[in-house]
Amino acid sequence: MSPIDYDVVYRSPTTELERAITDVQGEIPAELDGTVIRNGAGLQKIGSDSFNFFDAPGMVLGVTFEQGKARVRGRHVRHPFVGEELAAGRQLKRRVFTNLPNRWSNLFNVKIADVAQHDVYSWGGRLIASGAMRHCELDPTTLDSRAEVDWGVVPKDHQMCQMPRVDPHEKVLIGFSQKPGAGADEIAFWEFDERWQARRAATRKLGGPAAFVHDLAFSERYFVFVENGTKLELLSALWGKRSIYHSLAWPKDKRPKLWLLPRNEGAGEAMSFELPEPAVTIFHILNAHERNGEVIVDLHAFSGPIDFIAGYPPELRSRQGMRIERGPGGSVMRFTVDPTKRSLEAKTLYSGIGELPEIHPMRQGRDYRFAWLTSQESDGGEPDPNATLWTHGVCKLDVQSGARSVWSAGASGFVSQAVLAPRPGATEEDDGWLLVFVLDGERATTDLVILDASNPAKGELARLHLGQTIGVPGTHATFFGGMKLA
Ligand SMILES: [Fe+2]
Repeated sequence: MSPIDYDVVYRSPTTELERAITDVQGEIPAELDGTVIRNGAGLQKIGSDSFNFFDAPGMVLGVTFEQGKARVRGRHVRHPFVGEELAAGRQLKRRVFTNLPNRWSNLFNVKIADVAQHDVYSWGGRLIASGAMRHCELDPTTLDSRAEVDWGVVPKDHQMCQMPRVDPHEKVLIGFSQKPGAGADEIAFWEFDERWQARRAATRKLGGPAAFVHDLAFSERYFVFVENGTKLELLSALWGKRSIYHSLAWPKDKRPKLWLLPRNEGAGEAMSFELPEPAVTIFHILNAHERNGEVIVDLHAFSGPIDFIAGYPPELRSRQGMRIERGPGGSVMRFTVDPTKRSLEAKTLYSGIGELPEIHPMRQGRDYRFAWLTSQESDGGEPDPNATLWTHGVCKLDVQSGARSVWSAGASGFVSQAVLAPRPGATEEDDGWLLVFVLDGERATTDLVILDASNPAKGELARLHLGQTIGVPGTHATFFGGMKLA
């Protein structure tokens, strides 16, 4: 018998949060100064209609640290269509994972809505919540939603990626946009300077239409991304019985492709490499960097298709006849590309699921030693041990030696991305703290746990009780040094 219920995981925060955190076990480090913000599901239900957690209207939740004290602020990410759904008391728009409850409303319905709940980033003085199709600017003090981001020179028929990255060395924000095409999608990389002036740095036709690209990375000379070996079954998507995501197929003969696009003209040619087994589905890239002319890309790969069934609340699962099946395994892999020989070598850095990668922000695109990952460190006591989507552990991985240091929140502790807050003035890459939102499934509340980034296995330095649940711990999270929420 499971000690906790899935209903706890899918419980939405009923109110927006705004208070000092006074219930603290341990001590908040006095030097910890700034704000960690998580983006993720906020409203799992509208009326009696529930969503896959990737489709639930988002909530940004920030905890500000200052002089050993902390305060929390949570705001729902607002979009006009969410307001219309709240007023109607039901889901009005089809999502990528969640069809409309009335099966026939999905027939030929390709107007897919996005809720900007995947990631959160800051650039050029702006704070932005991002999703697959839209990015929403937030007030950096209150987290209240402002307007949808206008991408300026990016053509309107392009869709901006969900996870842009800051290159701290070139002082640019890097993002890609995808233009859907009947024969093949086009991908374009953009660099935004601190005044948000954009430069189109590279354009490329991909291998087919509806190309599934999630994350990006960069080295000094290249933009890096993976085109998954998927194919959209268009008739299934249009027929509307299955969701858009579940209309994706992974044909046996189609491998994921690692792409390297030169950041500047004259810096070489674009190249792609089919990734070998066990790499099948790739969401996140840890980092890319160059050494002696070679390009080294570290990423997490699942060894099979990912169905995200565990992302559906139980009532939605039973209504649609979905069952959680044991998912594929995962591994952290290193691919070394020699651009002159056009060769690729593969190596496994760690065998096991290690997702939502975090590295030191100043090591983006450069040689690095450490990554922090959410990992499957607990098995058996969860609501469903087959649900590989839920992770209970945090691990520090030394990508040079393979050594790991692990902390587990236990079978009833669901963790968010472990975010690195570097110690001010630190010179070591791992000198700082890890900030992890943990849903305690037994107590049905959310805590923020502070760990020593250099050795998470040492255990909790502090646990801050938020006093209520925020449900699903989150999709991505980021630490903003020095930023203060009201
Ligand atoms: Fe992501």
